[in-house]
Amino acid sequence: MQDRPLCTTMPYLHISIALLLSLNIPTTSATRDSISAGQALTIGDKLVSKNGRYALGFFEADSNWYLGIWFNSVPKFTQAWVANRDDPIKNPTSLQLIISHDANLVITNSSTHSIIWSTQTKIKRNNTTAILLNSGNFILRNASNSSDILWQSFDHLTDTYFPGAKLGWDKITGQNRRLVSRKNSISPATGFYCEELDPSGVNQFLLTPLDSFQPYWASGAWNGKYFSSIPEMSENNANNSFVDNAKEKYYMSGTVGEETAVTHHYLDVSGQYKTFIWLEGSQDWVPIYAQPKAQCDVYAVCGPFTICNDEALAHCTCMQGFNIRSPEDWILDDRTGGCLRNTPIDCITNGSASSSTDKFYSMTCVSLSQTAQKIETAKSASDCAQACLDNCSCSAYSFNSSRCSIWHNDLLNLRKRQCSSEAPNSNGETIYLRLASKDMQSLEKHRSWLLIAVATGTIVAALGLFAFILLLVIWRNKIKNSSHIPNSAQYSNGIVAFRYIDLQRATKNFSEKLGGGGFGSVFKGFLDGSTAIAVKRLDCAHQGEKQFRAEVSTIGIIQQINLVKLIGFCCEDAKKLLVYEHMPNGSLDNHLFQSHTTVLRWSTRYQIALGVARGLAYLHEN
Ligand SMILES: *[C@@H]1O[C@H](CO)[C@@H](O)[C@H](O)[C@H]1NC(C)=O
Ligand SMILES: *[C@@H]1O[C@H](CO)[C@@H](O)[C@H](O)[C@H]1NC(C)=O
Ligand SMILES: *[C@@H]1O[C@H](CO)[C@@H](O)[C@H](O)[C@H]1NC(C)=O
Ligand SMILES: *[C@@H]1O[C@H](CO)[C@@H](O)[C@H](O)[C@H]1NC(C)=O
Ligand SMILES: *[C@@H]1O[C@H](CO)[C@@H](O)[C@H](O)[C@H]1NC(C)=O
Ligand SMILES: *[C@@H]1O[C@H](CO)[C@@H](O)[C@H](O)[C@H]1NC(C)=O
Ligand SMILES: *[C@@H]1O[C@H](CO)[C@@H](O)[C@H](O)[C@H]1NC(C)=O
Ligand SMILES: *[C@@H]1O[C@H](CO)[C@@H](O)[C@H](O)[C@H]1NC(C)=O
Ligand SMILES: *[C@@H]1O[C@H](CO)[C@@H](O)[C@H](O)[C@H]1NC(C)=O
Repeated sequence: MQDRPLCTTMPYLHISIALLLSLNIPTTSATRDSISAGQALTIGDKLVSKNGRYALGFFEADSNWYLGIWFNSVPKFTQAWVANRDDPIKNPTSLQLIISHDANLVITNSSTHSIIWSTQTKIKRNNTTAILLNSGNFILRNASNSSDILWQSFDHLTDTYFPGAKLGWDKITGQNRRLVSRKNSISPATGFYCEELDPSGVNQFLLTPLDSFQPYWASGAWNGKYFSSIPEMSENNANNSFVDNAKEKYYMSGTVGEETAVTHHYLDVSGQYKTFIWLEGSQDWVPIYAQPKAQCDVYAVCGPFTICNDEALAHCTCMQGFNIRSPEDWILDDRTGGCLRNTPIDCITNGSASSSTDKFYSMTCVSLSQTAQKIETAKSASDCAQACLDNCSCSAYSFNSSRCSIWHNDLLNLRKRQCSSEAPNSNGETIYLRLASKDMQSLEKHRSWLLIAVATGTIVAALGLFAFILLLVIWRNKIKNSSHIPNSAQYSNGIVAFRYIDLQRATKNFSEKLGGGGFGSVFKGFLDGSTAIAVKRLDCAHQGEKQFRAEVSTIGIIQQINLVKLIGFCCEDAKKLLVYEHMPNGSLDNHLFQSHTTVLRWSTRYQIALGVARGLAYLHEN
């Protein structure tokens, strides 16, 4: 199996960022937080909660208009709730939000008086007010009794969880309060994944595709303090509660309004439940939590006939002989459509199927989905292949330990495993993908092309090529007497896996030592001759490789201005290195304890103490 080169997928990233930026963000400011009978909210207006954290108004996304709530205190437009996610408004002319004659909150067309969206609550008397609360809850209440809430947005969450909202069931009305992800990175419409209470009755939450109950993550049962698979919940002192009484069963998190950090908890398009925190310093959302941790754990996240690779920057790639079904959706982070065959398989439905001309393409180092049908009668690999050819719906087979498995129709949840080419079955299996012989031929042609390119020519030509390469290498080393990272793979969180030889070169064979610590020594180096780095060489590398990599990806998601950023790592046999950004001013203890350096001013010391505290607080919170 061959990976697609990264360069073919990279442009998508840029496009999706550009599209996000093109969202229309209302700008006019009004400082009211409520609407009463007779008042209207139009395009350009907004309600702002008293604490300034949330705003409500009309916004444009994906060429449609929506009524929703966003983070008012965050300059980067971030939606948190949408009233009409599945009833988008095409034309914004005469659009307004009012309290109608029946006391409901409605979106109407002021010129035709037609109702586009309504809270649709049965209200006996005629006097109500709508208020955006500090918690982000938009409520419709009795104007003369503030505890008489008739409708609230917390009962109709979209993809974002607000601390203080109930997630679970109302046993009387049967309402299921759950989170449903967005369609893609720009449209707030209903998407593919859902987080809800376990319908089987266990006191836990499940992540599952919306249209098929295939839970891919469970929170573990509530034990009175936290969900058993999330023990880290017990460490934050938020007021979490799980309530199960005659009226309702729900989970509720957090103390409302008290928290100072702006956080965004939501079920992402990717099927992961994520928490981001807004950092004023970097003016950006920074991820601090994701469940499940591995993207490829999400059911069918790449769609049919794809390979999901957690280690790659672009997680999803099409299998050989397939192409992206819907590039428009793919660009917007919705990969669930998967890939389509370039050529339909050859299937004779009424005659002798065994005359099928299809071929099999082998993919090594993959982990297979569990949906296979076992063919007990097939005793050899060729029997197994024939069993697959005999059935028109069969798309792949695998033959392992004398057991034949075949897969029907869409192949889902295939994952790339790291495994060496010498022992392809050490960690992963081999699957044989059914392809039309035409596609197989073009793959083989592609392969033999490479062979021909290498084998063509005489020894003279080969020598010429060799000389040319040699010259190229010498020339390159001459103009760039520093390291370059050609073979390093970039991890999904931006961490680079370096080769040892490159780090050795970058640090001039570990010549400039910056300092040493309990775990190893730190050396200075340069990437591409300019970017300064600090390379930490771990002395006691008793840790297993898997554990090391797991730790690296954990450290890698930490991004805080007061913490040194991990750029990458190297893990080759016993050689384990960590690559950090280089701090030009050196270690703080030099400045504090050594008399020969200039004495720090008290204001500087104060700023350092604050920075350390912020860094510690960030680490502690997570
Ligand atoms: C409101 O009605 C006018 C006149 O029919 C129409 O031009 C406009 O597009 C409508 N606006 C909305 C939001 O439906
Ligand atoms: C609002 O509350 C008042 C006093 O409790 C009550 O008389 C009235 O019927 C309520 N109105 C609505 C719309 O429920
Ligand atoms: C509510 O008040 C409006 C006038 O403000 C009136 O036209 C309407 O009939 C009233 N509706 C009810 C249900 O009392
Ligand atoms: C609605 O309630 C407000 C607040 O109690 C009150 O001032 C107003 O008179 C009421 N309006 C009607 C039409 O009942
Ligand atoms: C206000 O509404 C609450 C909740 O519906 C109700 O329990 C309370 O009795 C109401 N107060 C008055 C003064 O009617
Ligand atoms: C925690 O939340 C519960 C339920 O909302 C509330 O009764 C309790 O007073 C809260 N405790 C603290 C310490 O905030
Ligand atoms: C079945 O196959 C035969 C040839 O093998 C063909 O002539 C016939 O039209 C096919 N029937 C159907 C219903 O496809
Ligand atoms: C192909 O496999 C499917 C699924 O097991 C089965 O329902 C179907 O009958 C098979 N078709 C043939 C022709 O064997
Ligand atoms: C072969 O299949 C068995 C069970 O079907 C599984 O336990 C084993 O790990 C597989 N072997 C390889 C090398 O993948």
